[in-house]
Amino acid sequence: MNAPNLLLNVNGIEVIYNHVALVLKGVSLQVPEGGIVAILGGNGAGKTTTLRAISNLLKGERGEVTKGMIEYSRSWRGGIASPT
Ligand SMILES: Nc1ncnc2c1ncn2[C@@H]1O[C@H](COP(=O)(O)OP(=O)(O)OP(=O)(O)O)[C@@H](O)[C@H]1O
Ligand SMILES: [Mg+2]
Repeated sequence: MNAPNLLLNVNGIEVIYNHVALVLKGVSLQVPEGGIVAILGGNGAGKTTTLRAISNLLKGERGEVTKGMIEYSRSWRGGIASPT
């Protein structure tokens, strides 16, 4: 069976705020074309941080992706809801 066409591939990312606070470690998720993915977790689990990393909004929060990678398919047409 062929692998599904991935619109988004988040592979083992780590995010650190303010150079000290490690808040995401080894987060991976894939969004296949036509698929819907939900991120669930308790308060402070890192849902918003994950979306900030994907949408490149970490810098304004003094955060950075320090490990792993985020790949966007060429057929990605942008459009991600602003994280809250
Ligand atoms: N700008 C920031 N600077 C430093 N730490 C932050 C910042 N934003 C979030 N954090 C910390 O990162 C961790 C993950 O927070 P995040 O907001 O990503 O969680 P969340 O799953 O979206 O939570 P909620 O359900 O409350 O929205 C928490 O410990 C939080 O205190
Ligand atoms: Mg949140």
